Amino acid sequence: MAEGLPIIIVNLKTYEQGYGADGFEICKIMEEISIEHNVNLAAAVSAIDLVDYCDNLKIPIFAQHVDGVNYGSHTGSILPEAVRYSGAVGTLVNHAECQMNWEDIEATISRCRELGLLTVLCTADVKATEKGAHLNPDMIAVEPPELIGGDVSVSTAKPEVIADSVSTVSSINSDIPVLCGAGVKNQEDVSKALSLGSKGILLASGVVKSSEPREALMDLIKGL
Ligand code: G3P
Repeated sequence: MAEGLPIIIVNLKTYEQGYGADGFEICKIMEEISIEHNVNLAAAVSAIDLVDYCDNLKIPIFAQHVDGVNYGSHTGSILPEAVRYSGAVGTLVNHAECQMNWEDIEATISRCRELGLLTVLCTADVKATEKGAHLNPDMIAVEPPELIGGDVSVSTAKPEVIADSVSTVSSINSDIPVLCGAGVKNQEDVSKALSLGSKGILLASGVVKSSEPREALMDLIKGL
């Protein structure tokens, strides 16, 4: 997984600016910056937008969630095969806003592995990070939930969560890159997170809710 790192994954969530044509515009800006500045940017988008965005963008697109179900009677579920068919490279798993129990997390990671979909397992703290590392996701993104969507970044408020997650994961499986997120807004937040051993950032509001997403991204990538 060393290729493609460090990375910034922008989660469009369900923000008003984060779906359809507006969400596409943010991803297009990311694509331009990624190519022009040779940096790794990816987006986690609504299931509804996967096909359109994957067909028309050159950055890696992730789903925000999949269900660990197989073909059959699972109305409303997001089938991993359908996500792969869309062209997405992978999915977030267990985002703080879409939590799953450990049994479902394990089933989802395993289904995605069979299908060649990358998994970014989201965790709330070092303990969950440790448990998650044993499931061998492709990446782990640790995000203290109380900092999500706020103005104080994990790098500033809880640097020890990043450092301890990195050392814990590396003692279990050093091939799993640790990302971090919550409140990340600028290049200082990014560079501090990387200096603590993380391999990238999962963020949302700092870009999606910004009135100037291009400027916000240009500032963020300076920290890579
Ligand atoms: O998925 C990223 C996220 O939960 C962090 O959100 O708005 O604090 O960057 P935000």
